[in-house]
Formats: sequence, C-alpha cells, structure tokens
Amino acid sequence: MRVLVINGPNLNMLGIREPAVYGRRTFSDLEEYIRSEANKLNIEVSLYQSNHEGDLVDKIQEALNQYDGILINPAAYTHTSVAILDALKAVQLPTVEVHLSDINEREPFRRFSYVSLYAQKTIYGKGFEGYAEGLTWLKENC
Ligand code: DQA
Repeated sequence: MRVLVINGPNLNMLGIREPAVYGRRTFSDLEEYIRSEANKLNIEVSLYQSNHEGDLVDKIQEALNQYDGILINPAAYTHTSVAILDALKAVQLPTVEVHLSDINEREPFRRFSYVSLYAQKTIYGKGFEGYAEGLTWLKENC
C-alpha cells in the first residue's frame, strides 16, 4: 500500500515554532517518526512538505493513480483553502486529515476546516501519534 503524507506551511519549523503548542521535537523527528510507523504497518510512504498552497494542490493532483491514500496536515491552509479541498475532491483518494494540536480548543478561526468537508477522518490534538493513527486508519479502510 502506498500513502502520500503531506505537511503544509510552517510545519518545517517544528521544534522552533510555538513549542508550548507544538512541542520541542523537530520536523525531521516527525518525518523519522512517520517513516518508522509506516514501516511497522508495511506502508510505503512518500513525505512532502511545502509552504505554498499551489504546490500542495499540484502534489495532490499528482497523487491520482499513484497512491492508495493521503494523510494530510494542511496546517493554516486547513482553515482557508478551497483550492486544497477541491484538489482532494478531484482525485477522490481516501484521505485522513491530521493536526498536532487540538484545533477545537484554540482560537475560534481554527475550528472550521475546509479539508474536513472531504476527509473521511480527522484526527487532532494527539501530537505525532495522530500521524500513526491516520496511517493505521488508512491501512484498515483502504
Ligand atoms: C495545525 C493547526 C493549524 O491551525 C495551524 O495553522 C498549523 C498546524 C496543527 O497541526 O495543529 O500550522 O495544523
């Protein structure tokens, strides 16, 4: 099984950015964690991170016929991007949305997610473990 893992803007700053919210582990720690969890589940993962909305749209479009599912943390674009929602709707791959923090317990503008209008499952507030839970869900449901 092949899964595309997409991380959106500012997630490359993990470890530096708002440690009280996101913790002190770095983005490369996160990538290592995802690879190791995918390996345990016998999932082949490709990891992609970008700070640019259009690049994220391009990557989602390229996933068509290449992957069995998508695990995406759209970061700030979660709350703003109709383009990312439309790309996910276009490729129609099973999709899990993941957030490190609990987006429902933060500023009110984080409570709405465009991506949730397509994603079959949304996981939030579980830190790195949310990515493992998302991969497990894809393994069991695709
Ligand atoms: C985030 C939550 C978003 O609201 C925020 O803009 C992020 C990260 C999370 O993983 O908790 O950049 O997606």
